[in-house]
Amino acid sequence: MELDILIDYLIRYREFDLSGYSKSTLTRRTAYFMGIYGITSVQELADKLVRDNTLFQDFLDKLTINVTEFFRDPCAWTELVKLLAPFRSKSLSAWSAGCSVGCEPYTLAMVLKENGFSARRILATDIDKVALQRAREGIYELKEVKRVPPPYMKYFSKVGDRYAVVESIKKMVTFRHQNLLKDDFPQEEMDLILFRNVVIYFNQESHELLWGKFSKALKPGGLLFVGGSEVIFDPKKYDLKLLSHGFYRRV
Ligand SMILES: C[S@@+](CC[C@H](N)C(=O)[O-])C[C@H]1O[C@@H](n2cnc3c(N)ncnc32)[C@H](O)[C@@H]1O
Repeated sequence: MELDILIDYLIRYREFDLSGYSKSTLTRRTAYFMGIYGITSVQELADKLVRDNTLFQDFLDKLTINVTEFFRDPCAWTELVKLLAPFRSKSLSAWSAGCSVGCEPYTLAMVLKENGFSARRILATDIDKVALQRAREGIYELKEVKRVPPPYMKYFSKVGDRYAVVESIKKMVTFRHQNLLKDDFPQEEMDLILFRNVVIYFNQESHELLWGKFSKALKPGGLLFVGGSEVIFDPKKYDLKLLSHGFYRRV
């Protein structure tokens, strides 16, 4: 109930709608945030978020969980290469939705290049502007590159004790700000959409809305690549067909 005060305030005074997020994510992240700032009630938090821009930006930053890494779930990337076989002669259009600090779209760029696919462009979007800034810089800590298979390390150059994505990979990716629950989807139909480890933070209603929108954003025959713990119940309802764990094809 208390969370409703917060949701209501942010819609009214910040035009920011949190109602598509799951209540458990919101409760957890809000409690964590209040703990950091010593805020003792949701009403106090709501008042402060309306008045204080810096606090509001930090709230959004803490709410959007940016955990990511290169080659997250390595077996899934091997499977992707197999499923992309029919696209070998094409120039692929691809979108990483909820790309966080960029590890996912850059991994895709490396995988495509290494396996002889060509991509027209890889669009990468996220709601978090701070994460997008890091993504554009393309410089990473050891913990983010720890799963990179050795043959792919040639796509990084060492900068002190960090790892910079090489220019030929960086220029394959275009980063853009987008709120999946509010903003329009790209006009262009995609051959491949990566939407991984984002939907878990949303409620059931948003799940249904997004599966439908992502399906429509794909070309017939296009692939939707989701996170390891994410399952689309009744994919037929969205003109999708399960191919293997984590992969759906638009029919
Ligand atoms: C856990 S990360 C997943 C990153 C990457 N897809 C992966 O699997 O490694 C979730 C990302 O979703 C983004 N996100 C959360 N809500 C969003 C929204 N409404 N629109 C777009 N991105 C959102 C967060 O900012 C965060 O970067």
